[in-house]
Amino acid sequence: MIVYFNGRFMPKEEVKISPDDRGFLFADGTYEVIRSYNGKLFRMEDHKIRISRSLEQIRISGVNVGSLESIADKLIKENHLEDKDASVYIQVTRGVAGIRSHAFSAENMSPTVYAYAHGFQIPAEKWAKGVKAVIMPDIRWSRCDIKGLGLQANVLANQQAKESGAEEAIFVRNGVVTEGSHTNFCAVLNGELLTHPDGNYILPGITRTVVLSLCKKLNIPHREYPIFESQLNDAEECMILGTTTEIMPVVQINDRKVGTGKPGPVTVKLQQAFQEVVGN
Ligand code: PDD
Repeated sequence: MIVYFNGRFMPKEEVKISPDDRGFLFADGTYEVIRSYNGKLFRMEDHKIRISRSLEQIRISGVNVGSLESIADKLIKENHLEDKDASVYIQVTRGVAGIRSHAFSAENMSPTVYAYAHGFQIPAEKWAKGVKAVIMPDIRWSRCDIKGLGLQANVLANQQAKESGAEEAIFVRNGVVTEGSHTNFCAVLNGELLTHPDGNYILPGITRTVVLSLCKKLNIPHREYPIFESQLNDAEECMILGTTTEIMPVVQINDRKVGTGKPGPVTVKLQQAFQEVVGN
């Protein structure tokens, strides 16, 4: 695999990352996961805007965000993914510090940039039949709007979900459903699609933005509005959204069926429309 590391393309085995890198020591950095469909990057502009904001919020400067698009494109070509669906991972850390110290001195550091691409497709069966999710307390920090590298709470929640036979953990904070461990969440209640409002308790997902605009286009009633955990029992449909999840029906939450236990009409309509948007 040919990857990108600090200005150069090279075989993955040749990458040397310092143990003093603040990404390794503190998870001090940010990342993006981007899809490409038939060699074409999906919503790259939105990913660039989001990583610029994350970088600004965590006070990492000196990254040429504009160049990330050509890096992603070149990774697709170098790894012969032009005719396939793929996923590109880009990570930026604050860089290498002399000694481990919480505070950083921005002057004498340059960010570490690492990126790779690999072939990727959504598992067709899960997409068609839906998946199970489990509810878990949202124990993450309160800046979930930043796509930070510190994902331990997400990792542990998803692991627990997988160990209980579920695909995703759905977080609840103060009785309100926020999002999944690596997805946004929406539910259809009384025919209206609801998803947690933008803010510091969720990641502003790019798939979520696409879905909200599809709702508008298709005249599906929708609102960014809190969903209470207690309302989940009445949800007609639920779905999780994300770059590596697309629109995945959630047909079971904990031990309870969602709606009929099959993907509902709103979900299916959105899935079809999403396929058109990505050109598949
Ligand atoms: N996850 N919420 C969280 C916590 C996420 O980590 C993600 C993305 C999303 C969906 O955002 P988007 O539609 O922009 O992918 C929501 C990525 C894919 C990951 O960590 O692998």
